[in-house]
Amino acid sequence: MGKDSLSVTDNRTGKTYEIPIQDGTIPAMDLRRIKVDDDDFGLMSYDSAYLNTASCRSTITYIDGDHGILEYRGYPIEQLAEQSTFLEVAYLLLYGELPTQDQLDRWVYDITHHTMVHENLRIFLDGFRYDAHPMGILISTVAALSTFYPEARNVNDWDSVELQTQRLVAKMPTISAFAYRHAMGLPYIYPDNDLSYPGNFVNMMFKMTELKYKPNPILERALDILFILHADHEQNCSTSTMRMVGSSLPDPYVAVAAAAAALYGPRHGGANEAVVRMLTEIGDVKNIPEFIDSVKQGQRRLMGFGHRVYKNYDPRARIVKETAHEVFEVTGRNPLLDIALELETIALDDEYFVSRKLYPNVDFYSGIIYQALGLPTTMFTVMFAIPRTVGWMAQWREMLREPGNRIARPRQIYEGATTRDYVPMADRG
Ligand code: CMC
Repeated sequence: MGKDSLSVTDNRTGKTYEIPIQDGTIPAMDLRRIKVDDDDFGLMSYDSAYLNTASCRSTITYIDGDHGILEYRGYPIEQLAEQSTFLEVAYLLLYGELPTQDQLDRWVYDITHHTMVHENLRIFLDGFRYDAHPMGILISTVAALSTFYPEARNVNDWDSVELQTQRLVAKMPTISAFAYRHAMGLPYIYPDNDLSYPGNFVNMMFKMTELKYKPNPILERALDILFILHADHEQNCSTSTMRMVGSSLPDPYVAVAAAAAALYGPRHGGANEAVVRMLTEIGDVKNIPEFIDSVKQGQRRLMGFGHRVYKNYDPRARIVKETAHEVFEVTGRNPLLDIALELETIALDDEYFVSRKLYPNVDFYSGIIYQALGLPTTMFTVMFAIPRTVGWMAQWREMLREPGNRIARPRQIYEGATTRDYVPMADRG
């Protein structure tokens, strides 16, 4: 076994540099030693979409994309989805270990007792247009929470960090359900402390005139599993946003709003919404070959397929697919499922997708379930944001505790004009 270092020869100068290799990475700052002369700034690496740049050290989530492995704190996602609950997984992600019964009871109690929102927030929410996208409402309303808890700005006060963590995990379902009820023109439903985390969420979403809402246990469990699967996914776009915004030390409400904004896009959490639109547009199994052709010609993407990290079946997609069948036992089969299954079968056998290692990701089947649960497509990304708040908070807390953490500030390659003199208006051509 040779040395854990890299020898780099700069062909401009003929000089050789030794750069240490640690954990399969080289410290980017060591490249700065590579200069043509003393006035040279030194080499940088260029990686605009972070294809090959580790931005942090983390102990939270492990992904092996080639083998389709996902673990939270070392526990395989399959075991957690089968045996755990979302709030237990939330505890695991935030605190590093599975809770004891006492710890879990306390945690569930705390979350349950922070689900209410200030009445002014309800009035704030009323200000949105009737057709406002629930993600826009969610992002803005979470940011507005910042104004209700000014002490949250003190991110060095760990008691406060704990309190804001509980508030965020507890209030996201409430704000999300309110956003839905607003769009539907329905009265807001306040939290019911007798219900579980997912049970209370469906209560706030769907309760009508009944005195007590009784969630269907199969659907409640299905939702809990979906929440577990979406809780964290290491340094994806929204989580990196959380860390980046968090690195300037604002309160976590505005940082979560920024992360949720990153999630909103169709390349990220917005994909589940795009999948259902795509399946609806395809309309019939017989139209699939034509659709696949348009994808292969680069005219469009097969939404819910492909992943930056997974070059194998996304393990979450497998569990979502199984969960879909359980949900359909209760809700009746979503006809879009047949189109999705056939699309998957064709794509997994097609050279275009095989050679690019494009497999279904978590969003391919989740939207079909949400639709079967009666949710409008605009709510799908909201359903992703609720559990992902736990991951954002876990990663944000980890970042805050990292010794010597600094503000995130990438470099650029400047390609603009060189220095030139201001041109008065009269002289501009
Ligand atoms: N349909 C068709 N072709 C695709 C797809 C797709 N869904 N995804 C990637 N490709 C092709 C792409 O055209 C490129 O081909 P070529 O080498 O010929 O130019 C190659 O595969 C590599 O694609 P890329 O865009 O360089 O890959 P990326 O790592 O930058 O993008 C992605 C990852 C998830 C944004 C992309 O696969 C995609 O747009 N998928 C559809 C949207 C989607 O389902 N997003 C949800 C991601 S999972 C949930 C989450 O974490 O948010």
